[in-house]
Amino acid sequence: MSVTVRVPAKVNVQLAVGAARPDGFHDLANVFLAVGLYDEVTATPSPDGPRLTCEGPDAGQVPLDESNLAARAARALAERHGLEPAVHLHLAKDIPVAGGMAGGSADAAGALVACDALWGTRAPREELLEICAELGSDVPFSLVGGAALGTGRGERLRPLEVGGTFHWVFAVAEGGLSTPAVYREFDRLTEGTDVPGPVASEALLSALAKGDAAALAATLTNDLQPAALSLRPALADTLEAGRTAGALAALVSGSGPTTAFLAPDAATAARVAAALTASGTCRTARTTTAPAPGATVLS
Ligand code: C5P
Repeated sequence: MSVTVRVPAKVNVQLAVGAARPDGFHDLANVFLAVGLYDEVTATPSPDGPRLTCEGPDAGQVPLDESNLAARAARALAERHGLEPAVHLHLAKDIPVAGGMAGGSADAAGALVACDALWGTRAPREELLEICAELGSDVPFSLVGGAALGTGRGERLRPLEVGGTFHWVFAVAEGGLSTPAVYREFDRLTEGTDVPGPVASEALLSALAKGDAAALAATLTNDLQPAALSLRPALADTLEAGRTAGALAALVSGSGPTTAFLAPDAATAARVAAALTASGTCRTARTTTAPAPGATVLS
């Protein structure tokens, strides 16, 4: 008996970052959009104790010890229900690792839903979301998918309406970026300046609700982009290659180094992806659509 759960990646169509808080986190106005690149998490009983395995192009970069967010998710659910986390979690990873697309968060949300089904714990949605928020700022969104405004450190979610399908291209970079390092660079770059409180853009929320790609392109922002570019200046070349190839807009995805390109239609997305791959400024380029559903049990 085993349970497989599919979980989407995300792009932040707005990432407004406030000043560092006393706890080191930053208050955000974080507009999450789930996109159709997925990891799959399979949970199988493991009588000899917890086990974690991983497959995929970046599997070698994924920690397989207890620090892995998926393993921590299984343990958190087991502890709350007085169970042993005697589970083998297998991660089939298609989301870039350390790429700014919440791949680790997706695995945590997937592990939680898979273990809940496998163990029959039937935890209420609120409890699952609470565990997600304890695990990481982006984990609750991986569970719910679609589109949502995240406030606080990103974990407090308000679902958002999306009025159509958006076409995206993602350029996967060689190597990852550490999210804490990117936030530290943000702090360094904004030191001595008055960082305004983060506010969601009404124009952006309206573009999402209407399914209007041109309007969304005009309102995309990511306050972490200068920090990601400062740590990885070559990303500017990737952004430029995608813009030149016909993307409506280009931005760094979350803390990077994956870059995201909004296209007006599927044909343009395919052309932008081909141009990005040919440009030699990224490892590979992927086309997909949004919004995508949250964590879903497949079998
Ligand atoms: O919540 P999560 O574990 O994903 O955060 C990873 C790191 O990103 C944090 O340790 C912190 O350095 C940074 N972060 C932040 N403000 C947020 C979210 C994350 O500074 N709102």
